[in-house]
Amino acid sequence: MIIETFVLSPFQQNTRILACKRTREAVCIDPGEASANLADFIRDNDLSLKAILLTHGHLDHVGGVSHLAKSFPEAEIILHKDDEDLYYGLPSQPMFLGIPQAQLEALGMVYPQPPRLTRDWQDGNAFEFGEHRLEARHCPGHTRGHVVLVEHSERKIFVGDCLFAGSIGRTDLPGGDQEQRLDSIDRNILSLEDNFVVYSGHGPETTVGRERTTNPFLNGTYRMGRGRYV
Ligand SMILES: [Fe+2]
Repeated sequence: MIIETFVLSPFQQNTRILACKRTREAVCIDPGEASANLADFIRDNDLSLKAILLTHGHLDHVGGVSHLAKSFPEAEIILHKDDEDLYYGLPSQPMFLGIPQAQLEALGMVYPQPPRLTRDWQDGNAFEFGEHRLEARHCPGHTRGHVVLVEHSERKIFVGDCLFAGSIGRTDLPGGDQEQRLDSIDRNILSLEDNFVVYSGHGPETTVGRERTTNPFLNGTYRMGRGRYV
């Protein structure tokens, strides 16, 4: 599988294009910002974009959907229904993060109304492109409708903002829930074998095994109130 990462937006978010080497069918996971580099990469490599797959509805993960969808109007756009309010409310998200109106333009955060979603993720749904298959697992906690996407045959998981190398996603934004987040990570990510490679929405790649043993939020080093992991 081809995996190309683009670090975009003031949040240094990892936008990824995945593609099947044989059929050239591709998907984009979480286009975080309008960037001509995404469409250029797709065209320069003779890829055919089948879908824009969204892990969740935060602005740094969906901010580039409009721009990319203009170049590839046939591509599906898929998000869990519990994050639709965030997605369609994109133009006002910066306000909820406390970003001053006067800075929006300079930060590239004046967003148009995003295009209509074409489908909802349901827990256990899969999206296929070429010889690859991404299974969606509902992982509420960071947002209500967060999903992670598992490619079993390649032993890869795309986790958005659920889990980072050495850390976990914040839960203090609207829709966040600390307990749900830990349950989601347990059930959907730590249930995989140690050699699955983890691709997060921010920061470097890691593995399930490395996070299971060294992530202070998961191995008991950091006691989350009730110390449930010790
Ligand atoms: Fe997020």
